[in-house]
Amino acid sequence: MLSFIDHYALAVGQGNSRRELIALLKQVSDYERVHRKEEEALMERLQYPGLAAHRQEHDRLMARIAELLLRVRNADEPAVRETEGLLKTSFMEHLAGPDAEFHLFLSQRRGGALRD
Ligand SMILES: [Fe+2]
Repeated sequence: MLSFIDHYALAVGQGNSRRELIALLKQVSDYERVHRKEEEALMERLQYPGLAAHRQEHDRLMARIAELLLRVRNADEPAVRETEGLLKTSFMEHLAGPDAEFHLFLSQRRGGALRD
């Protein structure tokens, strides 16, 4: 995900067209859609108790990406430049919060499996 965002930032820096920037943001959105599907499938398989809340966080992240995509489509130059930071912040918050909780659950499960 971060590499997609970096590509976007590079494209902004190089003055790429709005159309190219939108295509890059669509890649961010597509990546996140696939990632969340895989992660939620794993959570279902493991009966992760935080699945419903995590799904809501994924919904929120997807909505944020869609909102930023719309801003880039419609907005002025400062909004185009701000998008990289806003995307990174949203993504890092997801990694540090809900994803970190799930990873803790996974490591506790593994620890439990080793003890059994
Ligand atoms: Fe997640």
